[in-house]
Amino acid sequence: MNLKGRSFLTLRDFTPEEITYLIDLAAEYKQKKKDGIMTDTLKGKNVALIFEKTSTRTRCSFEVAAHDLGLGTTYLDPTGSQIGKKESIADTARVLGSMYEGIEYRGYGQEIVNDLAKYSGVPVWNGLTNEYHPTQMLADLLTIREIFGDLKGRKLAYMGDARYNMGNSLMIACTKMGMHFAAGAPKKYFPQKELVDACEEYAKASGGSILLTEDPMEAVKDADIIYTDVWVSMGEPDSVWEERIHELTPYRVTKALMANAKDTAVFLHCLPAFHDLKTKIGKEMGERFGITEMEVTDEVFESAQSKVFQEAENRMHTIKAVMAATLGA
Ligand code: CP
Ligand code: NVA
Repeated sequence: MNLKGRSFLTLRDFTPEEITYLIDLAAEYKQKKKDGIMTDTLKGKNVALIFEKTSTRTRCSFEVAAHDLGLGTTYLDPTGSQIGKKESIADTARVLGSMYEGIEYRGYGQEIVNDLAKYSGVPVWNGLTNEYHPTQMLADLLTIREIFGDLKGRKLAYMGDARYNMGNSLMIACTKMGMHFAAGAPKKYFPQKELVDACEEYAKASGGSILLTEDPMEAVKDADIIYTDVWVSMGEPDSVWEERIHELTPYRVTKALMANAKDTAVFLHCLPAFHDLKTKIGKEMGERFGITEMEVTDEVFESAQSKVFQEAENRMHTIKAVMAATLGA
């Protein structure tokens, strides 16, 4: 398997074999890290990390993984560069491509990360766009494989806004890997038809399936994994909170929902999560709408079934694998 020179923009561009290769490589890097084995084979190379939206996991994962691989890093924060405001993406890409061996981008439209890849001439890694979050998918697949020992035939139920980056990406990841994807959401939050059609084709080839349903109990029935994400994503206006809380509360991951999945089911969430009032936004919404939790109850989040911190750690190992494979470590 040779992924050197490739960009990592969406899992749609990768075969199930390539995805498995990246998960295997991440597992190897994870073991080496635990054993204290150095992996700094990319010394002398540098990567640019562009964040037009905020981040904890993705930024830290890219920085730690880069340092472990021997790479130098430059972090460009949401306000500190000329990108978009004074300089086009095509111009930025040509400048960065002349100085760096790879570029990470987190921000808005998928077309931005596509253009960075097109004009920079170096591998570009999507650290989250409105449409996709592919590095998160590798961490999720690695976590599911660590827990169950396999992926094929497992059912993942995604609850909430299934038409945004996380819902889209999980549907792609599951159907590519022979898993059964279910989305529990009001119809207007279902993924777009074009993507569902493409994923139906992946499912046909892999033995997976797709279920889109407005019935939360049907979505989670016999699931191995119940997954959710925030109800309002970065970059969306604050004005949508009220509508989201109203429309998505029936899809909150509760103990009753977990009980309708398999006994062995686990809970995953890309994080950050609103499961209590210990955040600024959580507190504000709590006061405005009289709620104490949003997409997941604190009880489920803190339960033994919740594997969200194992999942978060795996962001680093999988991001390391993506950089290593595409830079030819
Ligand atoms: N899951 C995830 O992407 O987290 P951050 O927004 O903290 O990077
Ligand atoms: N849907 C969320 C994912 C965060 C990791 C967002 O885009 O804000």
